[in-house]
Amino acid sequence: MTVSDPVVEAVVATLSRSATEIRQGLVGRRGAVDEENPSGETQVEADIWADELLAERLLAIDGISQYASEEREAIVDCGDTASAAGYTVAVDPLDGSSNLTSNNAMGTIVGVYDAPLPARGEDLVAAAYVLYGPITTMLLATEDTVSEYELTGGERRRIREDVTLPDDPVVYGFGGRVPDWTDAFTQYAREIETELKLRYGGAMIGDVNQVVTYGGIFGYPGLESRPEGKLRLQFEGNPIGYIIERAGGRSSNGEQSLLTVEPSEGIHERTPVFVGNEPLIDRLETQLS
Ligand code: AHG
Ligand code: MN
Ligand code: MN
Ligand code: MN
Repeated sequence: MTVSDPVVEAVVATLSRSATEIRQGLVGRRGAVDEENPSGETQVEADIWADELLAERLLAIDGISQYASEEREAIVDCGDTASAAGYTVAVDPLDGSSNLTSNNAMGTIVGVYDAPLPARGEDLVAAAYVLYGPITTMLLATEDTVSEYELTGGERRRIREDVTLPDDPVVYGFGGRVPDWTDAFTQYAREIETELKLRYGGAMIGDVNQVVTYGGIFGYPGLESRPEGKLRLQFEGNPIGYIIERAGGRSSNGEQSLLTVEPSEGIHERTPVFVGNEPLIDRLETQLS
């Protein structure tokens, strides 16, 4: 089952193939290097390696004009005039890479935009994440549908079609330290704690995949010490918001859908991120306003 848009299909095929290699290449690349990424985070060897691998391969696709990632300061242009008007890709090469130390789940996120970067989530034409769990899976959202795949040996096999969030939510996970939460968010979280089960693993992709599987809410809120939160709009908020909205849920920055946010602070702009079942996000927005 291929994707009807040939450029999106090429991105998805490249991601599927690369994910198997990334997974295998993590061995021996778990250590921190003496570098920080543009968000001020310590990089591990695997962050830089996965970024370079994906940049080279995604920029080689005809019809991809720009590549940007969490791990590099500047947007890279393909330098090929034939592709110059094409789609752009924004990538989180390894989501939750600090989990490499404790050998817990991680992901890779790719957003495909039909606009120059930085772009609005509404300009996405597809988004996918790979989850490196006990097995490697990929969730792909296109304008048509959301599908889940298993990835082995560079091949992808579809295991679920038309994925939607279950109606009855079960799990929640919120990032940041509780004393650093705002009073309004703390009040909301206190209520949610009595209704749902906690699932928080330190990699958004792992936590979001629990929300997709069981229903619920994942959030990384704006903090007292950092009102813009931790997660990045282009590489994390937008693609995950797109996938969750395609799967029948909602995304929000606390006020509005992430997909409607106009980027204003460059490619590494941060944003509070909330995704999950519509009634839970609606309630959150009411309580934060
Ligand atoms: P990344 O590894 O791409 O920088 O992302 C880490 C993010 C996200 O995956 C996760 O939800 C969050 O950081 C965890 O942060 P805390 O360690 O503050 O809980
Ligand atoms: Mn990081
Ligand atoms: Mn991330
Ligand atoms: Mn990352």
